[in-house]
Amino acid sequence: MNAAVSLLRPAATNPATRPELTEALRAAVADKAAAALEFLRAAVTELGANGELTFANSFGAEDMVLTDLILREKLPIEIFSLDTGRLPAETYTLIGEVEQRYATKLKVFFPDSSAVEQYVRTHGINAFYDSVELRKACCGVRKMEPLRRALAGKKAWITGLRAAQSVTRTGMALREFDEGNGLEKLNPLLDWSEAEVWAYIRLHEVPYNALHDQFYPSIGCAPCTRAIAVGEDVRAGRWWWEDPTTKECGLHVSER
Ligand code: ADX
Ligand code: SF4
Repeated sequence: MNAAVSLLRPAATNPATRPELTEALRAAVADKAAAALEFLRAAVTELGANGELTFANSFGAEDMVLTDLILREKLPIEIFSLDTGRLPAETYTLIGEVEQRYATKLKVFFPDSSAVEQYVRTHGINAFYDSVELRKACCGVRKMEPLRRALAGKKAWITGLRAAQSVTRTGMALREFDEGNGLEKLNPLLDWSEAEVWAYIRLHEVPYNALHDQFYPSIGCAPCTRAIAVGEDVRAGRWWWEDPTTKECGLHVSER
């Protein structure tokens, strides 16, 4: 880890995960949660209540808000996750907590084992550090191909993307057509702030990834995610060795 980053990071718990729950924040969260729910219900009515809609759940903070809304309100929306095989231990702990809390088993997609074997034999176990090309190839095998299977036959997928997360996400819409994957893409939390996400989690006592308290606002695979320093961009800890404009794994290719 970069020494400058660890020096800048205080030992205390990340304050962003515990915003002050002022009346104004509570009211904003209640309004936005009601709007998100209405949006999801309208999507079910329009697109189908028999698995036509599927929610891509990475178990990050935003996705835990959506998980809670969908499972607590018993919305007929499928939930799937991509297990790349390189997720942090804390994410697996959270998956178990979610299964217990909501009395459900999750639909997890794994990469094709022979494709992973081939990648590792050809390039090495941690070859994603060697070039953007090899990093994208790893994401291709571990995320993109399983995503294609997860989205096959669906009419729309739902994500926890927020516009404020990164420069590559500012031009997104609440609902857009995902040309790359050939289906609708719904982003119900697009206009939520980080504080609103955390206020929802606190007010509804939603389980969350323990790494968020350790200054990991955005969590992906363990070797490609690190903590951020105070004041750094929320996605600065993802593929931190790359230029910010290349920092998408391909799941959200139409982002500008
Ligand atoms: S990523 O493209 O950089 O990995 P990010 O972690 O910000 O994406 O997550 C954005 C959205 O992509 C999440 O809210 C979720 O909908 C989807 N997503 C990301 N990773 C996964 C995963 N492993 N499984 C399922 N969905 C995921
Ligand atoms: Fe591979 Fe890293 Fe992409 Fe995970 S985030 S699939 S380990 S390159």
